[in-house]
Amino acid sequence: MGIAAYPGTFDPPTNGHLDIIERGAGIFDRVLVGVTANPAKTPLFSAGERLAMLREMCAHLKNVEVVPFKGLLVDFARDHGASVIVKGLRAVSDFEVELQMALMNRTLSSGLDTIFLMTSADNLYLSSSLVKEIALLGGDVSGFVHPAVQKRLKKKLAGIGRKGRGR
Ligand code: PNS
Repeated sequence: MGIAAYPGTFDPPTNGHLDIIERGAGIFDRVLVGVTANPAKTPLFSAGERLAMLREMCAHLKNVEVVPFKGLLVDFARDHGASVIVKGLRAVSDFEVELQMALMNRTLSSGLDTIFLMTSADNLYLSSSLVKEIALLGGDVSGFVHPAVQKRLKKKLAGIGRKGRGR
């Protein structure tokens, strides 16, 4: 089935992302997880931290590679020989924005299709933003993220707490 590019900001990566990566790895010969910045969002984690968390989460998947990218997704896909983009789709609210991006990417790079994997029911309402909010407010996110992410969230939030207290 060739090489698939799975792009995102992954701030932080969740069990929902891992589910799509694992299922993608079962369908495609290789999955390239492309970690980038979204100009509309200010990330909590640096690109290096997001790469490290994803690499730890994907260590058991031999046909998955986690790579950073800047610029257009279509260029990233072309430069790495990816013939398809893979994305996860949750509630209907995802649909409109994903449809727009899929059509735009197909226009920018003719023939580059996006294949959507429906989220697993458990992850229907899971998002990186909610994970960050719950963690910031002292809630338990262990059911939503990999232990590597939980550890980094704890460390990051402790750092923010120290700065907030002027230390
Ligand atoms: O995890 P996110 O923030 O929902 O991912 C959005 C992402 C990274 C997939 C999207 O912003 C993207 O493709 N960025 C790369 C820049 C690009 O190609 N923009 C045009 C998209 S049609």
